[in-house]
Amino acid sequence: MKILNFGSCNIDYVYSLDHIVEVGETEMGDKLEVFSGGKGLNQSIATARAGAEIYHAGCIGFDGDMLLDVMSESGVNTSLIKRVDSKNGHAIIQVSAKGENSIFLYAGSNAAVTRDYVDSVLERFERGDILLLQNEISQVEYIVERAYEMGMSVILNPSPINETIYKIDFNMLEYLILNEVEARAITGLDTPDECIGYLCSKYPKLKVMLTLGADGCVFSDGKEKYYQPIFKAEAVDTTAAGDTFTGYFVAELSRGKDIPTVLKTASMASAIAVSRMGAAPSIPEFTEVYERLEKGE
Ligand code: RIB
Repeated sequence: MKILNFGSCNIDYVYSLDHIVEVGETEMGDKLEVFSGGKGLNQSIATARAGAEIYHAGCIGFDGDMLLDVMSESGVNTSLIKRVDSKNGHAIIQVSAKGENSIFLYAGSNAAVTRDYVDSVLERFERGDILLLQNEISQVEYIVERAYEMGMSVILNPSPINETIYKIDFNMLEYLILNEVEARAITGLDTPDECIGYLCSKYPKLKVMLTLGADGCVFSDGKEKYYQPIFKAEAVDTTAAGDTFTGYFVAELSRGKDIPTVLKTASMASAIAVSRMGAAPSIPEFTEVYERLEKGE
């Protein structure tokens, strides 16, 4: 069984500020750091650092070499990535003194994914393989449909939410990994229980993984529900905490771990990521996660 992540690769420009700039406000910052990021890249790196084999597919622009390098160094298979003649996608990220963030995305090369390219990638996979997807590239709806027809197990992280997500038939998904804001936007409901109840009854085969920020996370397959509280961490930068969770979730799931173990490992990995600056650089290796779990921290 192979794992494919079809997703974005961004150059993240991270500005540290006292607080996130409000509408009409101007704030002066003097700290700029440049990191590799993108929900796709972050999740591939997290899956690889969690010790699973993963193929990344997506488009890299003429200025995206550092992104290929960091993925290869982290153990991601980059042989299916396509180089395109456009500027790479990037993110402008403000990080406040409290570790909160706000992100503006420029799609760039991430919008260059075509149906022909999707077909050429998917023909290397087969029934039973895992497909992981977020919503930062073009052709997301088409990729879901093709992978479903092929019998792949489709895991969607519907982030960021926009009109594309509402066009996807969730009956084609096996897992939906989302946060509270995304769950409310998709269901129109308020509490985590309401959102999970709605999703599991409307899409009977769907398994829902809902992250709740400081309140931990909850998983349901429509029959059982599992809850995991967070591991405490000093928040330095929350960017990619969700991506770290998702990558570890997919890696542990692919190894056949039971859901309580999957949730525990993914939660610890994302707690470690929160305590560090940057997206991809903040994602821990499995040995570190394992040691922290052993210590019960
Ligand atoms: O989830 C964090 C990521 O969102 C950042 O790395 C940024 O590139 C945006 O895609």
